Amino acid sequence: MTSHATPRRYLMCRPTHFAVTYRINPWMDPAAPYDNALAVSQWENLRQTFLGLGHTVELIDPIPGLPDMVFAANGATVVDGRVLAVQFRDAERADEAPAYAAWFSDRGFDVTEPKHTNEGEGDILLAGDVLLAGTGFRTAHASHAETQEVLRRPVITLQLVDPAFYHLDTALCVLDETNIAYLPQAFSPGSQSVLQQLFPNAIIATPEDAAVLGLNAVSDGRTVVLPVQAVSLTAALEAAGYKTIGVDLSELRKAGGGPKCCTLEVRA
Ligand code: ARG
Repeated sequence: MTSHATPRRYLMCRPTHFAVTYRINPWMDPAAPYDNALAVSQWENLRQTFLGLGHTVELIDPIPGLPDMVFAANGATVVDGRVLAVQFRDAERADEAPAYAAWFSDRGFDVTEPKHTNEGEGDILLAGDVLLAGTGFRTAHASHAETQEVLRRPVITLQLVDPAFYHLDTALCVLDETNIAYLPQAFSPGSQSVLQQLFPNAIIATPEDAAVLGLNAVSDGRTVVLPVQAVSLTAALEAAGYKTIGVDLSELRKAGGGPKCCTLEVRA
């Protein structure tokens, strides 16, 4: 294990208006209680964790009436300063897309509007030189070709099959340039074979890890920031030579999100 940390630039959105008022994934129960103040303090702890690791965190203003806007990973995909903007599957989140696109165009990024549904880094993850792209629940398969054209990296299509793991970043985490962690059962048999072929030394997560959104983790190549509840994944990462920091995002998990969902990587 020779991975080293590289300083990252992240975009986050404070969960000022976080709420669970609709259900667009199986984690969300609009009838269940949630605590907005606790969500904000858990998110603030995540932000401080990134700052403590030496990363840069930029912020986008939260918009009232968009309770899922905290999940910045869904706001775009950014590679080499090129931004592929997003198009949400669900009307409830549609107005987040222009807000994130404007954040990037206001700062001089080259922004391309998508023709197909894609939910940003929720489903499109850079792993070394290739983009791993999920489909099956949110991001349309047709968007994968568009992603390859716009971001100019080979795109590997991965078929998600379990509605609990509706975004790629709930079932797979990029650890460094050459390795990932994932839950095989979240993928179709063909996609499982592709992942085995590309990442023979991958860390295999347990269903218990995935059930606390343990794979929704953020790695800088050396330190993996992941849900503190993901005990076996934490042990497996440490055994493989990674450092880990556990964070508690229990309130945001009520909307189906964890650390990675809150974090969009800006690769300028
Ligand atoms: N409630 C949000 C949704 O269902 C959660 C998004 C989580 N984001 C992610 N990158 N997995 O769209």
